[in-house]
Amino acid sequence: MRILIAFSSLSGNTRDVARQVRARCEALGHEVSWIEAGIQALTDAGEPRHDLYVLGAWTDNAGRTPSEMKALIAELVAAVGKPAQLAVFGTGETQWGEEYYCGAVRRIAAFFGTRYPRLEIEQMPHGERDALRIQRWTDRILTCTQRMPGPGMPSETIENADPARFVA
Ligand SMILES: Cc1cc2nc3c(=O)[nH]c(=O)nc-3n(C[C@H](O)[C@H](O)[C@H](O)COP(=O)(O)O)c2cc1C
Repeated sequence: MRILIAFSSLSGNTRDVARQVRARCEALGHEVSWIEAGIQALTDAGEPRHDLYVLGAWTDNAGRTPSEMKALIAELVAAVGKPAQLAVFGTGETQWGEEYYCGAVRRIAAFFGTRYPRLEIEQMPHGERDALRIQRWTDRILTCTQRMPGPGMPSETIENADPARFVA
């Protein structure tokens, strides 16, 4: 599949997660377009249509989506609308309170109405445990995408792609 990984990262935590997602996708033979919000624009990915869109963000004040990520999302929506094949990950800190923890991940997922599972990592990914979490999540979103119906296929097939079926 052709996969877009588009993310924003202020101090590198979210970039670390994005790198691990990318490495897993590439190890499984997928082609990855890599866009860092605020540094690159969506047009740097060439053809904007992908089989899977993977968006990552750190969380700004009180659970907000960082402005550079909002700008990239606006570009994405203008180019391809709100794709069903879209997964969201991010990093945050629980010290900001449960209500605001990884708020950007939840906001972006709600904006797109995605049915994919979310991945939320506290600060930077640590050791084997987080590496395994990231790998498993990546495998799940790839499986969800491969099971999604193409345009024109019966909608009941979507039920088979319900992320709840993939919860370990
Ligand atoms: C100004 C500011 C506000 C933040 N607000 C939140 C917040 O509301 N919720 C949260 O989970 N993390 C919050 N954080 C923590 C960052 O999201 C977290 O450290 C993240 O891992 C940074 O990712 P990055 O290294 O990719 O930039 C905030 C950090 C900063 C600098």
